[in-house]
Amino acid sequence: MANASLWIHLHALAAVLSLAGFIVRGIWMLSGSSMLKKKWVKITPHVVDTVLLVSALVAAWLLFWGNGVHPQFLTVKIVGLIVYIGLGLMAMRFGKTRGVRASAWVLAILVFLYVAAVGVANTHPQLQDVLPAMVTGV
Ligand code: HEM
Repeated sequence: MANASLWIHLHALAAVLSLAGFIVRGIWMLSGSSMLKKKWVKITPHVVDTVLLVSALVAAWLLFWGNGVHPQFLTVKIVGLIVYIGLGLMAMRFGKTRGVRASAWVLAILVFLYVAAVGVANTHPQLQDVLPAMVTGV
């Protein structure tokens, strides 16, 4: 269990860094900044997002899958992550107009916050009274 808590904290840290980076890159994208061409700006998100996903899978294995448990909230998070990746690609790469890119960027941030809230609702059940039912699954 102590092990799992380490992985969850790493996962949460990577989530904060990933969102912060996505917001900053979106602002650079919408303002036409040349920062996006820098090598470290291109590489860092891949490193952070790999940590986010690997720590998620390890924590999920230690807490649930390794014991044969498949909670619904993990399915929600996996689907949410896929939707987030799709919206992120539309925002940063494939969106044809500035409007489409900006909309995809905002939606991606909302989906990310939702997936994070689903995680927090499970690590902090005492918050379930204040979180909406669509987050806690109640
Ligand atoms: C956009 C993607 C994701 C974000 C932003 C995110 C964020 C979070 C956050 C903020 C927490 C709470 C951490 C804490 O309270 O210290 C959490 C918990 C967790 N997340 Fe994620 N997560 C994402 C995707 C995933 C995926 C794809 C999986 C697994 C397949 C996953 C597995 C977990 C697990 C196992 C926990 C701990 C739940 C518990 O202790 O009951 N996450 N997540």
